[in-house]
Amino acid sequence: MVMSKIITIAGQKGGTGKSVTAVNLATSLALFEKNVLLIDCDPHGCSTQWCGIKSLDFNCDIASVLSGRAKVVDAIVKTRVNYLDIMPAGFNLFQVAMKLAKHPGNEKILRLFLKDVEGEYEYIIIDPPSSYNFLSLTAMTAAHLLLVCMSVHLNSIQDFHCLLRIMKYIRVNHKIPLKIAGLLFNRCNTKEDILSFLENQNLSDVKQMVYDTFIPEDDNIKEAIDLKIPAALHDIKSPAAEAYLSFAEEMHFFLK
Ligand SMILES: Nc1ncnc2c1ncn2[C@@H]1O[C@H](COP(=O)(O)OP(=O)(O)O)[C@@H](O)[C@H]1O
Ligand SMILES: [Mg+2]
Repeated sequence: MVMSKIITIAGQKGGTGKSVTAVNLATSLALFEKNVLLIDCDPHGCSTQWCGIKSLDFNCDIASVLSGRAKVVDAIVKTRVNYLDIMPAGFNLFQVAMKLAKHPGNEKILRLFLKDVEGEYEYIIIDPPSSYNFLSLTAMTAAHLLLVCMSVHLNSIQDFHCLLRIMKYIRVNHKIPLKIAGLLFNRCNTKEDILSFLENQNLSDVKQMVYDTFIPEDDNIKEAIDLKIPAALHDIKSPAAEAYLSFAEEMHFFLK
């Protein structure tokens, strides 16, 4: 039995591309025939919709699991991509999270439930919401690794330091050896843009954690979102789809 690598896409600023990365990284790993479970942990349900999953396609979702009404296996749906399954989310996750947040320690629930499917998937990719709240803490507490998604267009320095503090909170309070899987830059056109951004933001010391592959700004991403399909299914030769495939390869070898 393989142990799953559970990776939460971190980086709290909205619009850095966490959901785009969750969907397209999960798809790329699946195209390399890795068994992948994508978990949508955001009431917006972007990952769910962008994989082409509609509310009619499922009876149970992550809210059913977190509230104890369904088993993990009953809340997993196949996507149109071979090797890629998803645990969908919808707006009802918001109410469930409000209730669960009242009891300290509940942020460990997803981590505990995932033990039921760990081993069936090589990768479990979790897409969290874009602010520090119960659900983002739940998504990070469930992970072995955080993949930090960054953009040179957003001032991410404070964001990065907040993330390190939350990571420390989880490591100390829950005794979970959470690690950073590296930094991925999205919506970026050259490597030089990344290097000068890191220098300007006093983040030069994290340079060695930045992946060689970066994701360019590409209209194919927006078109794929409109069509509710991953970018590789829209145009596998597009710059963003190729970048996500290279990134999946780079990350897979780095984490081995
Ligand atoms: N590489 C990209 N190229 C073009 N547009 C992008 C790219 N990445 C993200 N976007 C746009 O930014 C929006 C926000 O991305 P999203 O993944 O939802 O961010 P987050 O989940 O971090 O809030 C997307 O709806 C998409 O329109
Ligand atoms: Mg998102």
